[in-house]
Amino acid sequence: MDDAGGYSAFMNRSLLFTLVCMACSSCAPAQQAEAPEPEPDSRVVKALEAASILPDPVVLAFRSALMADPGRFFRLLDEAELESAAAGDLLQLVDKNHALPSSYKPLDLVSLNDYKLARTKDTLSLRRAIMDSVLEMDAAARADGITLTFASTFRSYETQLGLFDYWVQSHGLKEAERFSARAGQSQHQLGTVVDFHPIEEEIASLPQGLWLEQNAWRYGFSMSYPPGHEHITGYLWEPWHFRYITKAGASIERDYFGGIQQYFLEFLREYRLGT
Ligand code: DAL
Ligand code: ZN
Repeated sequence: MDDAGGYSAFMNRSLLFTLVCMACSSCAPAQQAEAPEPEPDSRVVKALEAASILPDPVVLAFRSALMADPGRFFRLLDEAELESAAAGDLLQLVDKNHALPSSYKPLDLVSLNDYKLARTKDTLSLRRAIMDSVLEMDAAARADGITLTFASTFRSYETQLGLFDYWVQSHGLKEAERFSARAGQSQHQLGTVVDFHPIEEEIASLPQGLWLEQNAWRYGFSMSYPPGHEHITGYLWEPWHFRYITKAGASIERDYFGGIQQYFLEFLREYRLGT
C-alpha cells in the first residue's frame, strides 16, 4: 500500500470510529492519536444489521436516531427486554408470518369483572402482568374526563377460529383476511391486547379514540394496525386495537421506528436472532 492509500485507510477508520464514538457514552470523549482504535460498539453494529431487514427509509431514520444517542436506545431496549422477559415475552412478534401454537394460553389471565373498568361484556380477561399499566392508563384517561370502555381482550385459539370463520362466511375469505386474523395469528391470543369500544373506525374521531392515539404510548400501549400500513401489518386500520409492548418499548417504537409497531417487533426479532 502506498503512502496515500495508507493515509486514506487511516482516515476511513478514524471516521468510522469518530461516528460511533461521538454518540457512544461508554467511550472516552477524546483519544490520543497514538491510542489503539477500539472496536465499534458491537451492539450498534448488531442493531444496524437487524434494522437492515426493514425498508430503506425506515433504516435511514433508525440509523440517524440511533447514532444521535446510542446510549439512550440501548437503555430503553434493555428496560423493555427486562420487563418483557420477566413476563414471558411481552414483545413476541405475532402476525401473518409468525403464529402462536394452538395450545398457547397465558397462565395469568384475570377477569376484568374484578376491576373497576368500563366494559361491554362480562367475559373479558387480560394478563395479570399488564394490569398495573391498564389501570394506570384507565385512571389517567378518567383524570382527563375520558372513559375507556373495554370491548374485546384475550381470545383463545378456538375463539379466534370461530371468529375468523364467521367473517369468512359473511365477507368472503379475501376480505375477511384484511381485518380478521386466522387462529394462531391474532395478537389477542397473547392476552395483552385491548379493543376499545366502539370497534368502529369512528372511534378515531371520538374523545376516547383521540385520547388513546395521543396518550396510550405513555402507558406502554401501541396501536398495532395504524392507517395506511396494510401492506406492512397485513391488516386495515384498527384505531381501537392496542397492544401492550412495555413503556420503554412504546418509546422505542415512537422514537426509532416512526410509531409502527410492526417495524419495531420485526427489528427486535432480528436483533434477538443476531449473534
Ligand atoms: N382484528 C385483528 C387483526 C385480529 O383479528 O386479531
Ligand atoms: Zn383487536
